[in-house]
Amino acid sequence: MSFDDISIESTRITFWGTRTALEVRSPLPGVLRLRHLPTLGHRELGPRELPPKQSWAVVEHRELPLSFRREEEGQVAVVSTEEVSLEVRLAQGTWRLRDASGRELTRCEGFSGEAMTDYPVTRYRSRISLHSPPDEAWLGFGEKVGALDKRGMHFVFWNTDVVPHHPDTDPLYQSIPFSLGLRDGVAWGFFLDESWRMEVDVASEDRSRVRWESFGPELDTYLFAGPMPADVVRRYTALTGRPPLPPLWSLGAQQSRWGYENAEEIRSVIRGYRTRKLPLDCVYLDIDYMEGYKVWTWDRTRYPNPAGLASEAASHGVRLVTIIDPGVKAEPGYSVYDEALAGDYLVRNDRGNVLLGEVWPKPATFPDFTREPVRKWWGQQHRGLMEAGIAGVWNDMNEPACFRLINGHETFSIISAPAVDMGKVEGPTLPHDARHGDKRHLEVHNVYALGMAQAAYEGLREIAPERRPFILTRAGFAGIQRYSAVWTGDNSSYWSHLELSISMLLGLGLSGVSFAGSDVPGFMGHASGEMLVRWTQVGIFYPLLRNHSAKGTRFQEPWRFGEPYLSLTREWLERRYRLLPTLYTLMHESAQEGLPALRPLVMYAPGDAEALRMDDAFLFGKDLLVAPVVRQARTRRHAYLPEGRWLPFSDFGQSGEVVEGRQHVLAEAPLGTVPMWLRAGGALALTEPALHTTSANWARLTWHIHAAPRVEARLYEDAGDGYGASRVTQLNGEWAGDRFVLERRTEGALPLARETETLCVYALSAPREVLGAREYRFEDGVLLLEVEAGWSRVEVRL
Ligand code: GLC
Repeated sequence: MSFDDISIESTRITFWGTRTALEVRSPLPGVLRLRHLPTLGHRELGPRELPPKQSWAVVEHRELPLSFRREEEGQVAVVSTEEVSLEVRLAQGTWRLRDASGRELTRCEGFSGEAMTDYPVTRYRSRISLHSPPDEAWLGFGEKVGALDKRGMHFVFWNTDVVPHHPDTDPLYQSIPFSLGLRDGVAWGFFLDESWRMEVDVASEDRSRVRWESFGPELDTYLFAGPMPADVVRRYTALTGRPPLPPLWSLGAQQSRWGYENAEEIRSVIRGYRTRKLPLDCVYLDIDYMEGYKVWTWDRTRYPNPAGLASEAASHGVRLVTIIDPGVKAEPGYSVYDEALAGDYLVRNDRGNVLLGEVWPKPATFPDFTREPVRKWWGQQHRGLMEAGIAGVWNDMNEPACFRLINGHETFSIISAPAVDMGKVEGPTLPHDARHGDKRHLEVHNVYALGMAQAAYEGLREIAPERRPFILTRAGFAGIQRYSAVWTGDNSSYWSHLELSISMLLGLGLSGVSFAGSDVPGFMGHASGEMLVRWTQVGIFYPLLRNHSAKGTRFQEPWRFGEPYLSLTREWLERRYRLLPTLYTLMHESAQEGLPALRPLVMYAPGDAEALRMDDAFLFGKDLLVAPVVRQARTRRHAYLPEGRWLPFSDFGQSGEVVEGRQHVLAEAPLGTVPMWLRAGGALALTEPALHTTSANWARLTWHIHAAPRVEARLYEDAGDGYGASRVTQLNGEWAGDRFVLERRTEGALPLARETETLCVYALSAPREVLGAREYRFEDGVLLLEVEAGWSRVEVRL
C-alpha cells in the first residue's frame, strides 16, 4: 500500500492512495487522531472526500494546527505538533510516532482491509499492525482478565454477559479499546475509536506485533504522548470525558442480593446492619421488586409502599438503588411498551419488525439507545423512582443480554457471530443485522450500554438537578466514566477472582474508569467467613464497595459467618469510613484529571520491571501502597516496594521501621491485617468511623504524614452531594536539617466544619520544640500534634 497524493490544510493532512486514505489531525495537545481507511473505494463518495464519522466516545475535540514538511527527498512526510511528530513513509503506507525529544513511541507497519458486499449489508474487515519490541509492556484495555501487562494475550471487544466467568474468560461486559504502551520508563497511548466488534492480538501470535482488527470499514485511532502513564491517562480522559464527582453516600458500604424477597427482607437487612453496628449507606433492589420484570413497575404484594420503605431506610441513613434492565416486556397495555411502540423507540429485526427476544421479561423488546429521542424518553421514565425516594439506578443486562431470540432470525441473511465464536465467547445477544435506526447491531452493540447510561444520567440530572446522579452499569464502552460507575459483573466466590479483581480494576482505572468495584465476596458460589474478611479488606479500597450475591448461594451479609469474621468485617468497614476523606479527594481528582483512585505501582515507577509485575497490589492514590492477602489461609504477604522510602502502615498505623524501596519484603498478615506502606512525603487523611455518611466537610480529621524533605497532600471537601460550595486544602511540608515545617493553604467558599484536627507525623526524631500546635505528644516515635481548625503553619524543631 502506498500514498500518492497529500492534501494539506492547517489542521488536517490527508494522505491518499488508490483506495485508501490516512487523515491526520490533532484534537488536543499531545494527541493525534489518525483515521485509516483501507477500503475507501467501496464507498461511493467523491474522490477526495472522507465519509463522515460519528464517535460515541469522544467529547472534546479541537482543531489544533499541524506543521508539515517533507524529508528524504520527498519520500517521508512529517506532520508535527509541539509534543509529537508523525513520519509517514509514502511508498510503504506506514508511519512512525516520535515524542518531542525525537524518541520513537510507536511504529505502524501498515493497515489493510476488505469490503465484502454481500446482500443486504456490506461486511468489512480492517486491520492495523503496530511494531512492538519485546520489552514493551501493554496496559489498560478496560475490563480484561489477565495480568496488568497484557502482552501475550488476545482479546475480543464485544460486550458479553457470561456467567459464571473464569480468570481467562474473554470478552466480558465492557469494551474499552484503549491501551498504554510502556517501554524504558516512557508511556504512550493508543485508542481505537471503533464501536464495531474488534479483536486485538497483543504480541501473542507474533512477539513483535500488536494487531487490531475491526469489523468496520475504518480504523479511527488516537495516539497519546506521555511521558508518564498518568500523562497518557489525563490526555485520554480529556478526549473521552472525565467522571463526575459521585455523591458521598455512593462511596459508603453497599449491600445487595439477588433474592431479597420483599420489603420486609430489605428492612431486616438494614436492621441486621444497624443492630450489629455495621456501617451501611445503600441497599439495592434486584429484579424481584418489579411486577413480572417490567421496568418501572413495582410488585405491590412484595413492596406495597416503595416511598414509605425509602423514607424508612433514609431514617437509618440508608439509600435504596433499584435495578433497571433494558429489556421492555412486550405486553400491550403496559405503558412503557405502548409508548415505545408508538414512538418507534425499539430495535427492529432485519425485516423491519420490532425485534422480540427473551431476557427476564418474555417476550422482551429492546429500546434503541443510539438515538437521542429514545434516550430522552428513557431518561424521563426515571421520574417515578426518583419521586419514590430511590437514590440511584443500577443498569444491568445492557450488553444487551438476550437469552433467546423470538423473531430475531426473521432475516434475509443471518449475520451473527462468526462461526468459530458462536455460543462460545459471545453469549446470546441481538443478531448482528438487527436495526438501530439506519445502523446495524454489529456496529453499535458495544455502545448500547453507553447510550443507556447516558439516558439515565441525563434523565436524573433533569429530574433531580440538585443531586448528583448515581448510576451503576455492567456493560460499557470508552467514555462510560462520564455517566456511570462500573462493576465487574458476575464473578464468583473464588480466591482467584479476588486476586483478579485487582488487575481488572487497575486496567479499568487506566482506561478512564475510576469509579468501579467487584462484587464482594463474589456473586456466584459460596463464600467463607475468611473470604468475606479478605475480600472486604480489598473492597474497602474499591471506589465502589458492594456486597452482592446470587440467588441460591450462601447469604453474604457480614453476620452470616459468625465470629471472628463479623467483628473483623466491621473493623474493615469502619476503616472504609475512616478512609473517606482520602477516597473522596481521589474521586475529585478523577473528576478533574481523569486519574483513577486505584493505581498500579508502575504508574510512578514506569521504568521498574519489578513494579510492573506487582498486580496483586496497588497504590491507593499516589502514596499508600496496599498489598492485601488474596489467597486462602495465607498469613504473610510478599510485596515489592518501588523506589522511595516506605513506612510500614498495616491497618492504618505504623507497623515497623521505614524501609528503602527497590526491594522485596515479606510482611506479617494474619487474618485481621492488611500490609500497607505510606510513601515518604505522602499523607493520608482519615476521619472517624461512622454508621453512614453525612457530609464531606469533615468534623474530625487526622493527617498521617510520612515526613520527608518535601511533603505534599491535598484534601477536597464539600457537602457530599449537590453542586454547592467546596474547599481544597493543600498541605505542604519541608524538612531541612533540624526543622520540619508544615503549611496549610485552603481555597474555596465552603465554611470549615472542623471540630478536631490532628497531625500524626512519622519518621521524625523527638522534637525540642513545636510552634503552631495547641498540644503535642511524642509517643513510640510518632509525633502527634493537635492543631486549631484553621491552622496555617506548624514548625517542629528537632
Ligand atoms: C445479572 C447481574 C447480577 C444480578 C442478576 C439478577 O446476573 O449481573 O448482578 O443480580 O442479573 O438481576
